[in-house]
Amino acid sequence: MPASKKPYFSIRSSATHGHGAFAVRKIRRGTRIVEYQGKRTSWKKALKRPPSDPNDPYHTFIFGLDNGKVIDASLDGNDARWINHSCDPNCEAIEEEDGGVFIYAMRTIQPGEELNYDYRLSVDGKPSKKERKRYACHCGSENCRGTMLDV
Ligand SMILES: C[S@@+](CC[C@H](N)C(=O)[O-])C[C@H]1O[C@@H](n2cnc3c(N)ncnc32)[C@H](O)[C@@H]1O
Ligand SMILES: [Zn+2]
Repeated sequence: MPASKKPYFSIRSSATHGHGAFAVRKIRRGTRIVEYQGKRTSWKKALKRPPSDPNDPYHTFIFGLDNGKVIDASLDGNDARWINHSCDPNCEAIEEEDGGVFIYAMRTIQPGEELNYDYRLSVDGKPSKKERKRYACHCGSENCRGTMLDV
């Protein structure tokens, strides 16, 4: 298999939350690692769907797009949906001009490191303490802002 086709990561359980994606080889800064795939739909339809984790009403596989629509990775999603959030991320999610969303390495990532990006989740208006807590972050980084919300 050519080196470029070898997978960059595998999925296993994560200390941050549930499943996570872990590098299985060195990933250089700027590498386009994976596309965030799933069903493209409206916020309204995505929020009407059954919870992605029945034990956690705030668990989400939804990625908000610039055009006001979403990618709902609970339908037709790929392994990108297992990438957790971090407040000190090694990856970033970029929405490209054609609307595709790709996860890029922001720095060199060593084998065994967990991949993560800053979800920058939002709620209507300024988030209350309660809302921040609903989306509590467990990334464990020194500069953890305590929530996955973009505050
Ligand atoms: C796209 S999923 C990521 C995969 C997730 N670990 C799982 O096993 O389903 C996003 C969800 O994972 C959880 N999550 C991801 N990053 C987290 C973090 N830093 N702290 C707490 N929960 C996190 C939240 O429930 C979030 O809604
Ligand atoms: Zn954090």
